[in-house]
Amino acid sequence: MDNKYTSEYFQNLPDSLVWFEDGSLNMAYNVLDHNIEKGNGNKTALIYEAEDGTTTEITFFSLVRKSNRIANYLHQIGIKKGDRVSIFLPRIPELFYIFLGIMKTGAIASVYFSAFESEALKDRLSNSGSKIVFTNKNLLPRVEKIKNDLSELSSILVVDNEEFIAEYESQSDSFETAHTQAEDYAFMLYTSGTTGKPKGIVHAHYAIIQQIASAKLCLDLQPNDVYWCTADPGWITGIVYSILSNWALGITTVVYGGKFEAEKWYEIIAKHKVTVWYTAPTAIRMLMAKGEELVQKHDLSSLRFLASVGEPLNPEAILWGNKVFGKFFHDTWWQTETGSIMIANTPSLGIHPGSMGKPLPWVEAKIMDDNMEEVVVNEEGNLCLKPYWPSIMRTIWQDEEKYKSYFKDEWYISGDKAKKDEKGYFWFIGRADDLIKTSGERIGPFEVESVLIEHPDVVEAGVIGKPDVVRGEIIKAFVVLKDESLASEKLKSELADFVKTHLAGHAYPREIEFIDRLPKTRSGKIMRRILRAKELGQPIGDISTLEDY
Ligand code: WT7
Repeated sequence: MDNKYTSEYFQNLPDSLVWFEDGSLNMAYNVLDHNIEKGNGNKTALIYEAEDGTTTEITFFSLVRKSNRIANYLHQIGIKKGDRVSIFLPRIPELFYIFLGIMKTGAIASVYFSAFESEALKDRLSNSGSKIVFTNKNLLPRVEKIKNDLSELSSILVVDNEEFIAEYESQSDSFETAHTQAEDYAFMLYTSGTTGKPKGIVHAHYAIIQQIASAKLCLDLQPNDVYWCTADPGWITGIVYSILSNWALGITTVVYGGKFEAEKWYEIIAKHKVTVWYTAPTAIRMLMAKGEELVQKHDLSSLRFLASVGEPLNPEAILWGNKVFGKFFHDTWWQTETGSIMIANTPSLGIHPGSMGKPLPWVEAKIMDDNMEEVVVNEEGNLCLKPYWPSIMRTIWQDEEKYKSYFKDEWYISGDKAKKDEKGYFWFIGRADDLIKTSGERIGPFEVESVLIEHPDVVEAGVIGKPDVVRGEIIKAFVVLKDESLASEKLKSELADFVKTHLAGHAYPREIEFIDRLPKTRSGKIMRRILRAKELGQPIGDISTLEDY
């Protein structure tokens, strides 16, 4: 193993991982098969509730067998170590064991959120060079539409198709897990930056050690817990804390396949007696908006520990949580790139409303200025972390330059602005770039702009995150039309639909404004911070690079 990731802290953890005798390590084996050795085979691993309320329970034994069948099937069709295999599925049980089955073969698993439309999918499938994509009948048309543009794609496996089911069922349910090295790539997830196309953030098998340690510490998971993480596995939280760390710890995990609905969520907590609940601020604010009476209609007394991630958690939401659930939401901070929670209000630390908490024991965090000098207490700066830790991204797929751009003077630069107080608590301020966080989901403005300008009436577009009390931010687009006389409310909704159908159902502009021209630098880059400042009625700041405006 590359020594730079072998932090001493993780070498001495009490629950050691299962390493194969030859010194190799496979994440999926640790997540599933290790449970059999620990006597958890007959324990329920997954409680799955579909949107229509149908509930299925799957044991660890059964997940091991199902993932083995997938692994055998992939072997049979020629998948080898290092190949990319993708999943484009809604939250159904298949997604969970296919993800682990892929990693058992030594291939690199990737998941795309099911709201993505063909073009967004094409960018991701082609960048990853995926050989296989798993999907279902419902989503298949989006893959069919682009398959001819994907030269490396050899098979589309449709999990609810009879042929697939017959093939899958004919496979052996035992499989010799690939002896991957700790540093071998295990999975990758696409995420957005400010510029360019989405980036494939690549994680290694060894990440599991830190994912387990952080779940134990920050989510307080105990053997008898019923744990519900509401995130979709299209995003990193849904992978690390709804598949990997929780199952590696042998925890019974609830997955709800349907969309957010306050009443339904309370029913799920009550019905399955959820004890630990990990969710996002937007969801909490949406529950808040539905009122306290709705909470009181349900017996939520099973809840023991609540946590939140993805965007700033406002003190009002924390206080409301305590009022209605009798528990505080513990804020946690991390990123797709960090691979596990880095800063948190841990159970032992208690709650500091409005603060992200403190760095975990194995994390060194500093607030630095642009010259990489540490700033004084309570002063705003760039949130930086000391590399390398086991769950840090290992590369950005086919973009080593981008990967390198995260590091400076031996520090990892998160891209977030924050401050640290005299007691060592970290406070989130905002992003240092134009990245948008809407309902906790990360959206690159460039992706939305690129779609808008494909519309025949549009010349250019600038996209920003506009503060919103419920969603944190909403996407707002400033659009320059080919002809001013085209401007209408009807065109606004047409453009919003255009983004929904070309990019993704969750990434469309909720607000559109027609504008004569966009503020740009002399080199032609859209100055989104000026659009944002104007929108918020704030001072525009340094405009020395602005072209005549
Ligand atoms: C960005 C990373 C993997 C966790 C889910 C999001 C923002 C994350 C917090 C928090 C304020 C937060 C940051 C970060 N963020 N957690 N507790 N308070 N902001 O992962 O999609 O990669 O997004 O989410 O801006 O950089 P992600």
